[in-house]
Amino acid sequence: MNAIEISHLRVLRGGRVVLPDLSCTVSSGIITGLLGPSGSGKTTLIRAIVGVQRVLSGQLTVLGRPAGSPELRRLVGYVTQSPSVYADLTVSENLAYFASMAGVARSAVPAVIETVSLGAFRQTPVSQLSGGERARVSLAAALLPAPRLLVLDEPTVGLDPVLRQELWDLFHRLAQDGVSFLISSHVMDEAGRCQQLILLREGRVLATGTPPDLLRHTETKSLEEAFLRLIAAEVTS
Ligand SMILES: Nc1ncnc2c1ncn2[C@@H]1O[C@H](COP(=O)(O)OP(=O)(O)O)[C@@H](O)[C@H]1O
Ligand SMILES: [Mg+2]
Repeated sequence: MNAIEISHLRVLRGGRVVLPDLSCTVSSGIITGLLGPSGSGKTTLIRAIVGVQRVLSGQLTVLGRPAGSPELRRLVGYVTQSPSVYADLTVSENLAYFASMAGVARSAVPAVIETVSLGAFRQTPVSQLSGGERARVSLAAALLPAPRLLVLDEPTVGLDPVLRQELWDLFHRLAQDGVSFLISSHVMDEAGRCQQLILLREGRVLATGTPPDLLRHTETKSLEEAFLRLIAAEVTS
């Protein structure tokens, strides 16, 4: 089964067509990367998937239900591009707050803190955490309702390579437990960490496939090169 099915999605923002006619699918139980330069429409697409973006037309099905259905609130975790956690609250306090907002028992908090390896920082105010630790607090908040699908908008932006690696290891562990992931990034070197890719450019799907598929198809050695070659082919066709 597909976690997400999108057919002829059309989205306007501020009177401008951002996604003219987008169709793609996201498989269950794997990590799908949504890759594209800044301004290509990643956040707009993600907002539509999680049901906070008005769409003009097209079909958008998430876990078998229309995007934005109330049942999806607990099944889909969403971490925005600039995660909002409360700097003056501790890790535990933040998560207790998010648990109450999500209608999840407070008793779920210790387990998600362990999942994101923040046990040592339970009583630490978020203001004293590093960027990577903060990113993990937001992720923990999204994990509270035990979602089946996690949608993460550029979760590793601004993190150093070691922290990025740690976060990707965590995503892969969660995916092994059966959680489906859609992760956006504008950094092509992250594409290789995904099992499936959707390359976006100017609101259109430029290509989809596994990283090896895209390398083979474009006869390139890096995904960065593959992306450039696909753009060149599009421009000349
Ligand atoms: N609130 C808005 N009003 C009008 N245009 C917007 C708004 N937000 C984003 N856009 C435009 O939509 C396009 C896609 O933006 P976005 O989805 O944020 O891309 P990405 O996440 O890939 O950087 C950009 O051209 C951007 O300028
Ligand atoms: Mg964005």
